[in-house]
Amino acid sequence: MMDNKASILLRQQQTEKWLKNEAEDLGKEKIEELRDVLRFHEHRYYVENNPLISDFEYDTLYKQLEKLEKDHPELITTDSPTQRVGSGLIKDFPKTKHLVPMLSLENSYNEDDLLDWDRKAKELSGLDMIEYSVEPKFDGASISLVYEDDLLVRGVTRGDGETGDDITPNIRQIRSIPLSADFSKHHIQQIEIRGEILMNKKNFEKYNEGLMEEGLPPLANPRNAAAGSLRIKDSSIVRKRNLEGFLYHVSYISYKNEEPKDHLPSHSDMLQLLWDMGFRSPKKEMKVVKGISEVVKVINELEEKRDRLDYEIDGMVIKVNNLDLQEKLGMTSHHPRWAMAFKFKARQATSKLLDVQFQVGRTGAVTPVAKIQPVQVGGVTVSSISIHNEDYIKDKDLKLGDSILIERSGDVIPQIVKSLTDLRTGGEKNIVFPKHCPECEAELFKPEEEAVWRCVNINCKAQVVERIIHFVSKDAMDIKSFGEANVRKFFEMGLLKDIPGIYSFDVDQLKGIEGFGEKSITNLKDAITQSKQQPLHRLIYALGIRYVGETTAKTLAQKVHNVFDFEKMTAEELMNLEDVGVKVAASIYEFFHNHDNVRMLEKLRERGVKTEEEPTTLIAGNLSGMTFLFTGTLSKLKRAEAEALVEKEGGKIVSGVSSKLNFLITGEDAGSKLEKAKKIPSVKILSEEEFLSLLNV
Ligand code: IVH
Repeated sequence: MMDNKASILLRQQQTEKWLKNEAEDLGKEKIEELRDVLRFHEHRYYVENNPLISDFEYDTLYKQLEKLEKDHPELITTDSPTQRVGSGLIKDFPKTKHLVPMLSLENSYNEDDLLDWDRKAKELSGLDMIEYSVEPKFDGASISLVYEDDLLVRGVTRGDGETGDDITPNIRQIRSIPLSADFSKHHIQQIEIRGEILMNKKNFEKYNEGLMEEGLPPLANPRNAAAGSLRIKDSSIVRKRNLEGFLYHVSYISYKNEEPKDHLPSHSDMLQLLWDMGFRSPKKEMKVVKGISEVVKVINELEEKRDRLDYEIDGMVIKVNNLDLQEKLGMTSHHPRWAMAFKFKARQATSKLLDVQFQVGRTGAVTPVAKIQPVQVGGVTVSSISIHNEDYIKDKDLKLGDSILIERSGDVIPQIVKSLTDLRTGGEKNIVFPKHCPECEAELFKPEEEAVWRCVNINCKAQVVERIIHFVSKDAMDIKSFGEANVRKFFEMGLLKDIPGIYSFDVDQLKGIEGFGEKSITNLKDAITQSKQQPLHRLIYALGIRYVGETTAKTLAQKVHNVFDFEKMTAEELMNLEDVGVKVAASIYEFFHNHDNVRMLEKLRERGVKTEEEPTTLIAGNLSGMTFLFTGTLSKLKRAEAEALVEKEGGKIVSGVSSKLNFLITGEDAGSKLEKAKKIPSVKILSEEEFLSLLNV
């Protein structure tokens, strides 16, 4: 894939021309130029993670190509970016034999295992020092791709190693996988490439959030999400999962007529070649080192960084770098002798399911929570785990007294992977679901098409408390020092009865109560006052409308000026909003047609909570002419990184707050600059999160 300065400029010029729709004289070459422009931007976005245009601009170009191809169907090619989109449902995935069997890797868990392996490799090769490449062991679903005459012809799952499922239509949805590459330039006729398909942590969390908003149990880890997504029969859904992948191995090559003279010397060269051909190989993630003690250093460095990566890795793969030496070392019947997996500390652990308690949430959903024998997983002690609903308990075949396997994937909440049924003694007991609300005794109710039992008593105290806790929580109105424990305490004491009560709360009455010194009283007052200015999307999310998670709330906030606008919208109008389906629309409609909810919002407005806001949109790559200033400590980015992002998009960093400032981005403990900015109406104050989401980062 070309990426030198001149060719980038050329592509940019072509991009601008196509965006202005100035391409006249349409012919085969012109349409191919637009395809190349789109392929270039796909590569920048999905492979290099460094886009040059906004999503909107990409979509504009894409739509142009779609239109041109519709008008000239004779000019469509199978590797056109528009041809990723599948048509119809896949019936069955045909079984296909791999060109070369997909072997697994031998595992190692400590330094001694590695030293042993290195010693054997040295003995077999007669060398006294071996050069190794060390790269992440991606924790996803392995796949094999076949290209013939430059075109992707097959994408296959690992299966049993000999034969896998042909999932080509789904593989075509993964935009980091090129539909064609210039193999014939290297005289290659057919090539088989191996790699791993992943769902990154951010998309995984979003995906799980969506499942939970629908009342469905979340998945235990991104690996299952990736593997499951690859097997979906409707490719258009696969596209929405935003899968990505790394390709790290060429397992087979056949050449046209003559064998090429340029024989690849090493694994690192192979990763470079794959990268140059447009594949996302781990060339930047891989390090070449001499000798096994250097390998150990690289492993330790990466294990330390593991949590900061965008995707899950479960270890490292160490490969003999020289390809001739790889061949000399050969294979056992199970795995190559030239590679070794080093597994990081497990994020799984076994425990015992001791008890199940039933908690009532803010929507009345009754959630079973498993109390387990406390156990360390990935550095934290886990003693209770949500087990979601009755169907989940049945699916996982959970019983009281069971030994269970649990997993904590990255920052994700721990999940039960399975019950270890082989270890049952016969004394295990069924988990019995209550018929009445454990808090208010009202009879529980379960709509036929749902998996969740609910308490439908809207005044159920547990629900009221949970709604307040949700309202003040970090991702909602973020009223610091008004955390869960305080909400429960104030509610118990009769000081707080409902959400509007937060804004008529007499903080001074806490004087003299244990735990509330002068400082915490001032903090609490400030936090309540500040929260009145939270952006609209936070208020929408804080309301706790069913199916409206953070992402939907952000979309909704862009559509209205005032939260009361929703009250005037018909269900149909709501459904026409982008990303709002029937279920979400019905839920919003119901919420705003409930008098108590509207009254609550009115009270919030009367008490000074901001309920209206101009929708803002920024297009990435288009900050030119705008000025920015950062204040306080950012949590996701370093200050310099954030400033670089602004500058990359053409914006300017200024040093002080004045009427010339367009945006003030505030982190933790923002001080006088924030105060000053609040007094200048033209300065837009954004949180770090809003800044990132506006930039589409
Ligand atoms: S090399 C013939 N490199 O780990 C050698 N495998 O436990 C081919 N994996 O089946 C494999 N990241 O699915 C290799 N950087 C990496 C990898 C990797 C993940 C997976 C792969 C393999 C499994 C073995």
